[in-house]
Amino acid sequence: MNPKAIKIEAQKEIKRVKNLKNLDKIFKKYLGKKGKIAQVFNSLKKLSEKERKKIGKETNLVKVEIDKMIKKKSKELKEKERKIQIKKERIDITRPGKKIGVGHLHPLTLVQREIFEIFQSMGFSVIQGPEVETEWYNFDALNIPKDHPARDMWDTFWLKNNKLLLRTHTSPVQIRYMEKHNPPLRIIVPGKCFRHEATDASHDIQFYQLEGLMIDKNISAANFKAIIEEFLKRFFKTKVEIQLRPSYFPFTEPSFEIDVRKEKGKWVEMMGAGMVHPNVFKAAGLNPKEWQGFAFGVGLDRLAMVKYKIGDIRLFYQGDLRFLKQF
Ligand code: PHE
Repeated sequence: MNPKAIKIEAQKEIKRVKNLKNLDKIFKKYLGKKGKIAQVFNSLKKLSEKERKKIGKETNLVKVEIDKMIKKKSKELKEKERKIQIKKERIDITRPGKKIGVGHLHPLTLVQREIFEIFQSMGFSVIQGPEVETEWYNFDALNIPKDHPARDMWDTFWLKNNKLLLRTHTSPVQIRYMEKHNPPLRIIVPGKCFRHEATDASHDIQFYQLEGLMIDKNISAANFKAIIEEFLKRFFKTKVEIQLRPSYFPFTEPSFEIDVRKEKGKWVEMMGAGMVHPNVFKAAGLNPKEWQGFAFGVGLDRLAMVKYKIGDIRLFYQGDLRFLKQF
């Protein structure tokens, strides 16, 4: 085929083409390895030298021209497609935005903050301790030796090495604090605790406790009762009934259990408490003849449950927005 005819044909096709994909097909058809121009070059062999030179030159020119036309068209098409794309993506900036919900505090956080405020007003400091504990702080130092049956009171998650554990209560922080600070002292210790036990509406494998500790020369159970009554009164803002029952904890002597109920509701076992056992003072390096005091451990979840009339402790940890949004 003669190069000029090829050029005219290509020109027509390029003019008509509507998108880059088809333009690419045209490129292949004319300028590709097996395209029309290549075919002409291949057939040059058969010609006489004079003609070969002439047609060769012409074909070269045509090749350059077709290439130019395609490049020009490609630019045009790209520009066109870009404009269409922009139009498609255009947004109406005057449309109202999507409302983003405002976050709020978890009921346990709310309860903790309130409790901090009440105890801080009575001179207590808020202290933290580790959730992963040693056997010494969680048990031995609290007068719970290895083979003592009282260890069964706390079903424990042991870590793989069998030396560390997830604390079963916040009481180990009593020891940690007394090791470093001399009495008189007043602290509360909020924190997560873990127990390896079956869950039900009032037990979960993880829960929050608040430990309290007050040590001085002359602290008695009467001080404990006064402080805890004051606390409960301010926390519930309504009348609540409390009952103290004699109980047993290895780290307090005497020990008691405190139940609370609001508006003639169900009695809820809320905290363990007692006078700090002499062995606990000894383990922390304090002289039990010199110091005395009380300790208590409140279930924070349970305080929240009574305050907000929540029937199931597990609701706190499920992240269910229908529940959480109510606070
Ligand atoms: N640590 C006890 C528990 O978890 C509660 C407690 C704390 C009791 C302090 C007495 C004194 O069951």
